[in-house]
Amino acid sequence: MSGLPSIPFGRTGLVVSRLAFGGASLAGATDADADRLVATALEEGVTLFDAAQCYGRAEEHLGRALAGCRSEVTLVTKCGHHEVLADGSWRSLDIGAADIDAALRRLRTDHIDAMLLHSYDPDPSRLERAFDVLRAARTAGKVCSIGYSGDNEGAKLAFSTPDLDVLELSLSVADQANVLALLPIAEARGIAVMTKRSLANAAWRHLGRPEDTWRDAHDAPYVRRLRAMGCSAAIAPDGLGWDESALRFVFQSAGVHAAIIGASDPDKLRRNAENARRLAGLPVDADAYAAWRRRFSEAEARVGETWRALN
Ligand SMILES: NC(=O)c1ccc[n+]([C@@H]2O[C@H](COP(=O)([O-])OP(=O)(O)OC[C@H]3O[C@@H](n4cnc5c(N)ncnc54)[C@H](OP(=O)(O)O)[C@@H]3O)[C@@H](O)[C@H]2O)c1
Repeated sequence: MSGLPSIPFGRTGLVVSRLAFGGASLAGATDADADRLVATALEEGVTLFDAAQCYGRAEEHLGRALAGCRSEVTLVTKCGHHEVLADGSWRSLDIGAADIDAALRRLRTDHIDAMLLHSYDPDPSRLERAFDVLRAARTAGKVCSIGYSGDNEGAKLAFSTPDLDVLELSLSVADQANVLALLPIAEARGIAVMTKRSLANAAWRHLGRPEDTWRDAHDAPYVRRLRAMGCSAAIAPDGLGWDESALRFVFQSAGVHAAIIGASDPDKLRRNAENARRLAGLPVDADAYAAWRRRFSEAEARVGETWRALN
């Protein structure tokens, strides 16, 4: 493995690479493509891997591809996503010991470094029951740390859990609510923070294209925000390349330990590792950071909205 900047992961006792591998990219991958992508991540020095029960075959792919170096990597995964009810609303799935055991089997390991509840319902008693399942797994040695992946009300409620070790939250130039909503309290409590959607799903790719080409896309809300922020496709407003500017914003946000980036293209993964090597240790550029913060809040004011974190 070649070097990537690394960091103590909150109070978990682990040290992880500041760039983390986004397992959602493996959801529909063939074995060969998944092996190639994970091998690229290892070559680039990534040691932190993020997955979830609901990311297709991602856990299975990671289990196979990381079998030879399990002790050198940190595995974070999630359970309890949601089912869609008859009225179209979502409800988190109840979880039990079988969910943990199935993840261990798919990941081909005897312990998961951190198991997170996946965007779990902000219902105090359901959330507490789900955390109790994770605690029992921790007592049994199957899970080392427990945490929550999600934003807004659910994440705030998760903070009432005194033994929350890891938080996975949305953060990017187009998704800044957590700069004030979650990061300060996570930092004060020594919670390990991983950011998801760190590149805003690379939504800048759609800027300048007609709306009917991206209106229904997963990243459409970010395209609308970047448009409202006066951004253009060619280059970020600070004159840097988009991927570089976006990753710098995340690394310069106080309280962030690692940025998860999803990439199904190995060249993009290499490029993100190059950016991480260059950016992770830089002192905070307060002016550049403030400029991104101002651009976001002024755009919110212009459109008359408060932009929540996207789960
Ligand atoms: N609720 C949750 O728990 C939750 C929700 C969302 C995400 N996540 C986690 O966070 C990870 C990252 O989030 P995400 O994948 O939604 O968003 P993301 O990392 O912001 O964006 C991924 C997109 O960016 C593209 N990309 C990556 N590097 C690039 C580069 N250097 N230049 C241009 N485009 C680039 C990828 O393209 P290609 O795929 O074409 O390479 C992909 O389309 C996921 O994989 C998952 O592990 C968790």
